[in-house]
Amino acid sequence: MSALCALPPDFDSTYFRSALSQFATGVTVVITRDADGALHGLTVNSFSSVSLEPPLVLWSLANKARSMPAFQECSHYIINVLAEHQVDLALRFSRQAENRFEALAFETSRTGLPILDGAAAWFECQNRSRYQEGDHVIFVGQVERCQMKPSRMLGFLGGRFLAIQPGESL
Ligand SMILES: Cc1cc2nc3c(=O)[nH]c(=O)nc-3n(C[C@H](O)[C@H](O)[C@H](O)COP(=O)(O)O)c2cc1C
Repeated sequence: MSALCALPPDFDSTYFRSALSQFATGVTVVITRDADGALHGLTVNSFSSVSLEPPLVLWSLANKARSMPAFQECSHYIINVLAEHQVDLALRFSRQAENRFEALAFETSRTGLPILDGAAAWFECQNRSRYQEGDHVIFVGQVERCQMKPSRMLGFLGGRFLAIQPGESL
């Protein structure tokens, strides 16, 4: 058996997606601005921490995403971590038909990006590096500013949204 080559999968992508959905995540909305000043953003649950020093995070973006050119070219983006009451935003930023920024309540970050009202946390990132892998691009961001407002979190598990309640530790 070669350590250099992966075996072809013995499962289809529907099964793979289901297996991945057994891993509970939070839900974020990642937003940037293009050179003309237009905002682009989408719902993302691939967000993860990478490094403490320097402070790095990652997320991945589908090659087919309409916002890909904006994220490839921007100097900064902001990652808003959604709270329990923000399912509507998670849906708004994942559906094609929606005008995602219409009547959206936000403050503006140091680099002019939307900090969504009610977000549980936000990370303002410099667009440090990008890695093409399969049908996604992995974005690594260097966090320049972040803030948190401890809240009940919005979670995603088994293809459904759920509230992540602070409770007793196991
Ligand atoms: C809970 C949830 C998590 C998602 N996570 C991701 C993700 O990590 N990366 C991604 O590319 N799309 C993700 N999506 C899908 C995008 O939000 C969706 O395809 C969106 O319409 C893409 O926007 P765009 O084509 O305007 O860039 C997720 C959708 C949902 C509902």
